[in-house]
Amino acid sequence: MLLHILFTLPILCMIKIGSAAMYTITSSQFIKDSQTISSNDDAFKFGFFSPANTTNRYVGIWYLEESNIIWVANREKPLQDFSGIVTISNDNRNLLVLDGQKNVIWSSNVSNFASNSNVTAHLQSTGNLVLLEDATGNKIWESFEHPTNAFVPNMIISTNQKTGQKVKLTSWKTPSDPAIGNFSCSLERLNAPEFFIWNKTKPHWRSGPWNGQKFIGVASRSVYTSSYLNGFDIAREDNGSLVEITYTLINSSFFANLVLTYEGNISSNLWFNGYSVRKGVRQENECDYYGFCGPNGNCDSKNLPICTCLKGFEPKNAVEWNKQNWSSGCVRRASLRCELGGEGDGFVKLETTKVPDFVQQSYLSADACRTQCLNDCNCTAYGFDDGIQCLTWSGNLIDIVKFSGGGIDLYIRVANSELDGKRNVKQIIISMVVIVGGIIFATSTYFLWSRASKRSARRKEAKSLVLNTSQIHRESQNTNVKQVKIEDLPLFEFQEISTATNNFNPSNKIGHGGFGSVYKGQLRNGLEIAVKRLSRVSGQGIEEFMNEVIVISKLQHRNLVRLLGCCIEGEEKMLVYEYMPNNSLDFYLFDSIKEKVLDWKKRLYIIEGISRGLLYLHRDSRLRIIHRDLKPSNILLDEELNPKISDFGMAKIFGRTENEGSTRRIVGTYGYMSPEYAMEGLFSEKSDVFSFGVLLLEMISGRKNTSFYNHDQALSLLGYAWKLWNEEEIISLIDPEICNPDYVDDILRCIHIGLLCVQEIAKERPTMATVVSMLSSEIVKFPRPFQPAFILRQTERREDIDDQQCCDLNSLNNVSVTSLQGR
Ligand SMILES: *[C@@H]1O[C@H](CO)[C@@H](O)[C@H](O)[C@H]1NC(C)=O
Ligand SMILES: *[C@@H]1O[C@H](CO)[C@@H](O)[C@H](O)[C@H]1NC(C)=O
Ligand SMILES: *[C@@H]1O[C@H](CO)[C@@H](O)[C@H](O)[C@H]1NC(C)=O
Ligand SMILES: *[C@@H]1O[C@H](CO)[C@@H](O)[C@H](O)[C@H]1NC(C)=O
Ligand SMILES: *[C@@H]1O[C@H](CO)[C@@H](O)[C@H](O)[C@H]1NC(C)=O
Ligand SMILES: *[C@@H]1O[C@H](CO)[C@@H](O)[C@H](O)[C@H]1NC(C)=O
Ligand SMILES: *[C@@H]1O[C@H](CO)[C@@H](O)[C@H](O)[C@H]1NC(C)=O
Ligand SMILES: *[C@@H]1O[C@H](CO)[C@@H](O)[C@H](O)[C@H]1NC(C)=O
Ligand SMILES: *[C@@H]1O[C@H](CO)[C@@H](O)[C@H](O)[C@H]1NC(C)=O
Ligand SMILES: *[C@@H]1O[C@H](CO)[C@@H](O)[C@H](O)[C@H]1NC(C)=O
Repeated sequence: MLLHILFTLPILCMIKIGSAAMYTITSSQFIKDSQTISSNDDAFKFGFFSPANTTNRYVGIWYLEESNIIWVANREKPLQDFSGIVTISNDNRNLLVLDGQKNVIWSSNVSNFASNSNVTAHLQSTGNLVLLEDATGNKIWESFEHPTNAFVPNMIISTNQKTGQKVKLTSWKTPSDPAIGNFSCSLERLNAPEFFIWNKTKPHWRSGPWNGQKFIGVASRSVYTSSYLNGFDIAREDNGSLVEITYTLINSSFFANLVLTYEGNISSNLWFNGYSVRKGVRQENECDYYGFCGPNGNCDSKNLPICTCLKGFEPKNAVEWNKQNWSSGCVRRASLRCELGGEGDGFVKLETTKVPDFVQQSYLSADACRTQCLNDCNCTAYGFDDGIQCLTWSGNLIDIVKFSGGGIDLYIRVANSELDGKRNVKQIIISMVVIVGGIIFATSTYFLWSRASKRSARRKEAKSLVLNTSQIHRESQNTNVKQVKIEDLPLFEFQEISTATNNFNPSNKIGHGGFGSVYKGQLRNGLEIAVKRLSRVSGQGIEEFMNEVIVISKLQHRNLVRLLGCCIEGEEKMLVYEYMPNNSLDFYLFDSIKEKVLDWKKRLYIIEGISRGLLYLHRDSRLRIIHRDLKPSNILLDEELNPKISDFGMAKIFGRTENEGSTRRIVGTYGYMSPEYAMEGLFSEKSDVFSFGVLLLEMISGRKNTSFYNHDQALSLLGYAWKLWNEEEIISLIDPEICNPDYVDDILRCIHIGLLCVQEIAKERPTMATVVSMLSSEIVKFPRPFQPAFILRQTERREDIDDQQCCDLNSLNNVSVTSLQGR
């Protein structure tokens, strides 16, 4: 940061000297191209600019740099040369953009004046350009009421139901053309207001209803819940027919905006003390597209296929649906009793969803809400949120998304017959009768029956295993073992796995885990899998096996390896995972050739992924889980190098209220275990934080904590890092492979985070939530770390390695370290 200041300060000064800053436009004072007016603090400028890749001239407002345009005046009518001016009209009433021939290119178009006073244009410190009457000081026009593509703090976006008037964002056509593009963003559904992004006239994305604090259709972690925001505020006026939304920041050190991009995405950008700390487009997936799965479809981006019909519904057009054409959606399988004049419909629950569109809201308790829905034949679903209270829907349910966290539970009305699972079987059998006929019927039912009984025998076996392990788990009293039903987990047949892995051919073997071998395989449908097979002979590992089943079958997160199912037949016990083509992190990290694949950006991406996976385990998943064996070999990488935490054999499930456990059986890997765990068997979220810290420092240094040897002292990696930190030489910890002056600030920030994570005293270590915020620069002020644990190497063996020097950064050294500590 200091570095930036050193370089940019003289330039800023030169600009200041070169042209006297102007702050107003009056009837006697206009601006030409190349001139600007500024806000009082000089953060915002109003003047002429050209977007990227065009020479067209536009008049607009930007924050700090011309690339951060927040408003454009003549967006539809660019100037072709540098002859334009901005002035006040001859009648002293309007702001005009004129071309070289004095033609009006753009006008503020105010017509209903209250007085005869002249007007003056000012740029306020919020970035709002206002026209004020000189005599009264009244605002007669403001740019904030005519937004373009940027939503900035204190601006108001609104919809007036009575007049039909909307203040909305409209995208640019392309990054080079500010003319009105295909997308717009406005407030809709005013009884429970939602943000909508429109693609021309079609809904493109929706935020879900506002519950007084947040939009409930936006997954938990996002720009809308950031710590630098005071948050959004929605106001109703005029008996609820006018709804307005605005947002503010926690203080003036920050500036943020939300920009509707030309592709219909929202880009959220944050500056702190004038420095850009985050620019980015929200990560999208197909489920973000409005109604992606059609009416009554349920979109789950973590599922394959991504669309399924809601329970009690079936594809409207099965042929198209199976071709993954979801557009016609699903229809009800069995008529509701209610429609036939009877009673006895019920509800099935869909947890953590983005609720469908066209909600009706009422102030009822959860029970009353259910009753009301049940008594109204048109009601197809209901839900309850503490803020909005009772939500009900009628007709088709559109734009349901299954979240892994956040959202609310949705109760979908179905016919009574859908509630008990029997009907399904009956239906299958009946259709068999029709298709196959009498004689074949007998055989096929026999086949079905024998198959089903085999399956149920296997399920029974699996169930008894669960019971056995619940005894093992007495250690942590409050586990949720009882809730875990192995029925939820798909069961594979031994034969299927055996075929997939070519009879467990040694050439398919890709690893040897803690309790058995791992094979690569391919299912008949082409899906690649990794199979962990418990060694048959020894009974060893069964505890880890069941633990893994219990823990991971309940978890879904993009940074956790996904368990596809298991296979339990006789002696055979196997776990089936999605296959990760890129091996594990240690495979790259500690290999002098392969580590070149991981430049700093990739490493940071991996670090962030791991931190989010861990945060999910600790906080966001329905169970609270301590992994207890986090290390590079347990981080698998998919084809895009997305990290996936694996190996839950040692994980512990915590009750919601427990914070710390203890065990006499200390498992884990030396070098990654926290001191309180290694020595006293105490474990908590903070023991995972410690392991994460070690891993982070390993990723930055490219060296293993346990096999780290330094010339002079018997120091571990942590000890070495601590020594360098105190000598203000921490920069030489950085792996020469990733050393790049552009990233040094980022890397140093991560080292600082790493050192905070490995502090000796668990209480001092940050939580994963804090770590994630630190990594994303939402938190910028870090405490100084205290001494890490295990600074002395606990082995006598010594080995010399090259004292590799990081790229010559001596000159940068002091600057960066001071700026780091200054934050
Ligand atoms: C408005 O501006 C005109 C021309 O600049 C000036 O002659 C006139 O006195 C101004 N009127 C007032 C009320 O200040
Ligand atoms: C401008 O053009 C260059 C070269 O065609 C391209 O790489 C760049 O992405 C363009 N910039 C924008 C903002 O479109
Ligand atoms: C101003 O009014 C004119 C004529 O009614 C119209 O053509 C023009 O688009 C308006 N300009 C703006 C910026 O609203
Ligand atoms: C917007 O709508 C058009 C036509 O309706 C469609 O072709 C296009 O893919 C849509 N754009 C996005 C980003 O969904
Ligand atoms: C709001 O609605 C109430 C009752 O419908 C009515 O009496 C009142 O005049 C309305 N107020 C406004 C500002 O429209
Ligand atoms: C704003 O908040 C940040 C973070 O809490 C703090 O570092 C900064 O000093 C504050 N700035 C002002 C002007 O209060
Ligand atoms: C906007 O819509 C038009 C016509 O539907 C299409 O040709 C163009 O590619 C779209 N632009 C973007 C950025 O989606
Ligand atoms: C932005 O939107 C487009 C079109 O909808 C999509 O293809 C693209 O991936 C989005 N960009 C990001 C960064 O999500
Ligand atoms: C998808 O299915 C609908 C009817 O269900 C059909 O009209 C449409 O053409 C199909 N789209 C594609 C791309 O096949
Ligand atoms: C149910 O919907 C129908 C058709 O939309 C409507 O005529 C009827 O009044 C509704 N019934 C109730 C109880 O809202």
